Amino acid sequence: MEIKVRKMKLRDIFSFSTLYLSLPEEDKKLFHPFPLQKWKLLPVITYIALSSMFNKYLRKIIPKFTFLALIAEDIENKKIAGFAYLHIKGKYSPNKYTANLGIVVSKEYRGHHIGSLLMKRLIKTAKENEIKKIELDVLTQNTPAINLYKKYGFVIEGEIKTKCPVDKKTYRSYKMGLEL
Ligand SMILES: CC(C)(COP(=O)(O)OP(=O)(O)OC[C@H]1O[C@@H](n2cnc3c(N)ncnc32)[C@H](O)[C@@H]1OP(=O)(O)O)[C@@H](O)C(=O)NCCC(=O)NCCS
Repeated sequence: MEIKVRKMKLRDIFSFSTLYLSLPEEDKKLFHPFPLQKWKLLPVITYIALSSMFNKYLRKIIPKFTFLALIAEDIENKKIAGFAYLHIKGKYSPNKYTANLGIVVSKEYRGHHIGSLLMKRLIKTAKENEIKKIELDVLTQNTPAINLYKKYGFVIEGEIKTKCPVDKKTYRSYKMGLEL
């Protein structure tokens, strides 16, 4: 299996939307506790792709709303195997940013180190983009993701409870962070 990790482009929005929609509901919640409603998916993904492509320029104007997104592509089958992003949140001090991380690997590709490939490249991308801390929330029962994050140096910094606006249930999550 030949997997290439690269920057997300505009042409990925339909294949990524297909990947997201193919995820079981449970996995959508793991990826993000508040699953994206169908009508929001395409505009959100389009914005992530565009803001990732033009991040350097957009960050100067609206740092809080920009993304750096990566795609893991199965070259042979021309399929998206995984996706990861950094959502730039704000400034520590001039030119030092914090970012939130999200990652998902398509079910059929899990356990083949694609999450690791994405994670290594994302950390490299963060360093190249003056990001000094990566933060994330992960559901406390999401052992594969917690192990992946710990493997790459993230530490648990706290625990929170949040109510999902979609199913109205309360979820327990860890707040994890990686100082770069
Ligand atoms: C978490 C996820 C991205 C891991 O992707 P992956 O490609 O299967 O992970 P890798 O094969 O690169 O594994 C890397 C490490 O993750 C951990 N891991 C992965 N799968 C695991 C599992 N089923 N059980 C326990 N740990 C696991 C291990 O520490 C592993 O390192 P090792 O191979 O040295 O043991 C994938 O399971 C996924 O997409 N889950 C659904 C979405 C999600 O939960 N996203 C995170 C939201 S916060």
